[in-house]
Amino acid sequence: MLKKLSGLSGIAIIAILSLQTNAFAQNIVIPVETQHNALVLQTNKSNNLNIVYVGPTLTDKKEYEEVAAQYRQTDEYTGVSNAAYATTGSRSLFEPALTVTHADGNNSLDLQYVRHEAKKIDDNVSLLTVDLKDPIYNFEVRLFYKTYFKEDVTEQWSEIKHAEKGSVVLQKFASAGLYLKADNFWLRQYHGDWAKEMQPEESKLTHGIKTLDSKLGTRADLFQPPVFMVSLNKPATEDEGTVLYGSLEWSGNFRIDLELDNQDNLRVIAGINNHASPYTLQPGEVFTTPAFLSVLSFHGKGEASRKLQSWARNYKLLDGKGSRLTLLNNWEATYFDFNETKLKALLKDTKALGVDLFLLDDGWFANKYPRNNDGAGLGDWQENKAKLPNGIASLVSEAQANDVKFGIWVEPEMVNPKSELYEKHPDWVVKQPNRQEYYFRNQLVLDLSNPQVQEFVYNTVDNLFTKNPRLAYIKWDCNAVIYNAYSSHLKNQSHFYIQYVQGLYSVLQKLRKKYPTVPMMLCSGGGGRVDYAALQYFTEFWPSDNTDPLERIFMQWEYSYFYPAVSSSNHVTDWGKQPIKYRTDVAMMGKLGFDIVVSKLDAKDLQFCQEAIKTYNNIKPIIWQGNQYRLQDPAGNAVAAVLYLNEEKTSGVIFNYLVNNRYAAGSERPIRLKGLDPQKRYQLKELNLYPGTISSINSNKTYTGEFLMTVGYNPDVKAGRASVVLALNVIMENS
Ligand code: DGJ
Repeated sequence: MLKKLSGLSGIAIIAILSLQTNAFAQNIVIPVETQHNALVLQTNKSNNLNIVYVGPTLTDKKEYEEVAAQYRQTDEYTGVSNAAYATTGSRSLFEPALTVTHADGNNSLDLQYVRHEAKKIDDNVSLLTVDLKDPIYNFEVRLFYKTYFKEDVTEQWSEIKHAEKGSVVLQKFASAGLYLKADNFWLRQYHGDWAKEMQPEESKLTHGIKTLDSKLGTRADLFQPPVFMVSLNKPATEDEGTVLYGSLEWSGNFRIDLELDNQDNLRVIAGINNHASPYTLQPGEVFTTPAFLSVLSFHGKGEASRKLQSWARNYKLLDGKGSRLTLLNNWEATYFDFNETKLKALLKDTKALGVDLFLLDDGWFANKYPRNNDGAGLGDWQENKAKLPNGIASLVSEAQANDVKFGIWVEPEMVNPKSELYEKHPDWVVKQPNRQEYYFRNQLVLDLSNPQVQEFVYNTVDNLFTKNPRLAYIKWDCNAVIYNAYSSHLKNQSHFYIQYVQGLYSVLQKLRKKYPTVPMMLCSGGGGRVDYAALQYFTEFWPSDNTDPLERIFMQWEYSYFYPAVSSSNHVTDWGKQPIKYRTDVAMMGKLGFDIVVSKLDAKDLQFCQEAIKTYNNIKPIIWQGNQYRLQDPAGNAVAAVLYLNEEKTSGVIFNYLVNNRYAAGSERPIRLKGLDPQKRYQLKELNLYPGTISSINSNKTYTGEFLMTVGYNPDVKAGRASVVLALNVIMENS
């Protein structure tokens, strides 16, 4: 029996009033709607739950029922090829979301609709649950669909449980599935390595399965992050086309299968990677899968990313609407070679530069095996007495005396074999008992599936705060992947990869309970661990150790499709050949920091940086909280341009860069702006001028939004003006 609940602004919610078990419930239609999108679920005559539509919302909700009949694709043999949560062993012939071995050894699973319930969490967020059950086995799945109306974002996950007479093994246990129909599909995926993160590849999907995955355990995204885009019908451009963005909220091994089937439809199944991880589920135990995140746009990649960025700031990223600290980091300025005197000088430089905080990086700890290089000391989190005879406390006080804040680097999940921790607790280390040890950056991973290790990792960070209550920032690094996966704590080794991540989250949850807002940077030898599950605990991430600004223009461009500028830590370093202005301008497109030897800057460079930081402090609310419009792609153009515009469309900042040094390369044609109010008049003014240079921009002229969006504006980028930052401001009517 169907009943529509009215009066729930804009969200169609249909609730089943009676509980139906195994009754024929054909044609129960459940639209999962956001402002512009609908994912429509429908039961078939065998009571299985299918996806019949993913597309723009329809005004007449009853018409969702008519969608399926309009398709005349090849024979559908199974009745479940479009399953909302595909299983193995009954009629499904395709990639499953869930494969199980029941207590009696049987491998079949047939999930049938039981009931569903829609709840409104607030004006914007709704939660739909759909219960499914096997008619033969005492095995149940609850599907969750959490929708964010304004942002058109959906999070999907599942809970799996049973009451069989023994344990059930989950062989594959994905979070969710989608089923898309289009003429063809174009996948944009990413690959990389250290210093080469977020390298895009776009290709037309062919029949069969394309899998995006990681088996690296900790630094899971080193070779491939979980984010991807699928364009429907034709490759979406920045402003045109239908495109779905997806990602898994999980900081470990993931697996995303994209299967183009015999009917030319695309099945997307995403979840924890089941590789080496069959999960033994006890009767009554609930296995909750992580959320699969998706956003759909019918107006190109730009709109999809603005929706996702806004969702992240509002709902996911820790303190997404809050402020951030600018900083001076000492990693590239000193590496491991520092002592108290040197650091005290750097604290003065921090003040002179004008940033908020000094961040002490790797190398401050360990005594028996001092951390003077990356071969020793990890795990021994006591201040190194030779370098810091008066401890961190004296640096924190000195920072305060200089009127700057103090932050510190840790890598608490890791251990060097050359460490006291390793000597004392070899059983805490992830390694095979009877095999040779293999190291990644001379280190091993601690076994976070073990509660004692969780306690140790928690205490490592907690002690720093307890001893130094004014500590204002943590950079949490994670440099090794998992080799020789084995936990001496776990009885079932197949649970290791999963329980490692759960252990990590439980430490982070405990830390956040005690320190809810202290800013923390998520770092993994660069961007080896960037995902939205981790970002619930972190205020920002480190995209890459590669800070060459030319490389960063490309990398930050790709990251920005999925993550807002406020979460991207961008540091000015000595990487690259570009002058300090270019490096600083690029780093401003996010959360600005420096990692340079300030005392070695010449007077003009220092003056430039000081003024740039002041400018940044004025414009950072727009960069962090505004809407981002990618104006001109660095791939394929001599000039790249990005606009950040405030919600009111009255103020913006445009970053323009020369990314090609061929003869006479520059901004030959105007760059069309986006998102402005066509009727308003705007003025453009150049920011971040290097001392002694004069802008070629006439800031007395004004232009309508219409002109700037139709004809465009030429920032006059060329050799010698390779980086141009422009402030855009509305002229008040009567001024
Ligand atoms: C890798 C990080 O990405 C760097 O920024 C730096 O913190 C080093 N680790 C320190 O070992």
